[in-house]
Amino acid sequence: MPQGPNSTREIPETGSIPKHIAIIMDGNGRWAQNRYLPRIAGHKQGVETVRGVIKSCIERNIPYLTLFAFSSENWRRPTDEVTSLMQLFLGALEQEITKLHENGICFKVIGDLSKFESKIIEFIQIGEQLTAENTRLTFTIAANYGGRWDIMQAMRKMMAQSTNLPLNFEEENLAQYLSMSYAPEPDLFIRTGGECRVSNFLLWQLAYTELYFTNTLWPDFDEHELELAIQSYQQRERRFGRTSEQIQMGRSAKG
Ligand code: IPE
Ligand code: IPE
Ligand code: MG
Repeated sequence: MPQGPNSTREIPETGSIPKHIAIIMDGNGRWAQNRYLPRIAGHKQGVETVRGVIKSCIERNIPYLTLFAFSSENWRRPTDEVTSLMQLFLGALEQEITKLHENGICFKVIGDLSKFESKIIEFIQIGEQLTAENTRLTFTIAANYGGRWDIMQAMRKMMAQSTNLPLNFEEENLAQYLSMSYAPEPDLFIRTGGECRVSNFLLWQLAYTELYFTNTLWPDFDEHELELAIQSYQQRERRFGRTSEQIQMGRSAKG
């Protein structure tokens, strides 16, 4: 009987805590505009929200948190917003790397880093090296990231590194080259800001992720909002293709 990919063979129990939460942090601009502030003020406030969410994940023993900070399409924004966002990113890296390390957090960045200025790349490398052995929380920032880019770069790496690749290669052959191969696939996807779309985020990895959309703008997304998202996740029955009856039987068989 065909089994499908490994990642969807094991079904997490209903009511369990998500191991990996991936978030599209959206609504910073509207938060600022609602207050007659420049959009960058919303982005700055958004960084505060990031701190709170990291803290909450640690308190809840959630081992993986991934945040979409800048998409491969966000370069299309006005130049001054892109410049301000880069400054904010650099400033946050400068300020936070040591703190992340002190808190036992493993820091990673996924995305096409070649487009960033050298200082940003340097800080990312320093941060990743410094925190590589930490295990309390793996905190990933997706920057200049696109889900299609990820699949394409994985494909290119796979083809470059495998001399005898069979034409009928398997998902596993490719998956190891994806930029998040170090993490389990997200259990819970959250998008703030009211839009119900994936915007080229982790396309491959979201195949069986539970989706949660909220109108709350990212700067307003606090511990309570995160709790609501987790509660919603905990009420869902994940089936990965099976029937509800099969899932229930499996549970009662386990005792
Ligand atoms: C998300 O907030 C942050 C980034 C995309 C960098 P937005 O800037 O998209 O905020 P809205 O959607 O315009 O309110
Ligand atoms: C998605 O937000 C990307 C990030 C949060 C970094 P956008 O606000 O750019 O998404 P779209 O373009 O409206 O879908
Ligand atoms: Mg937006």
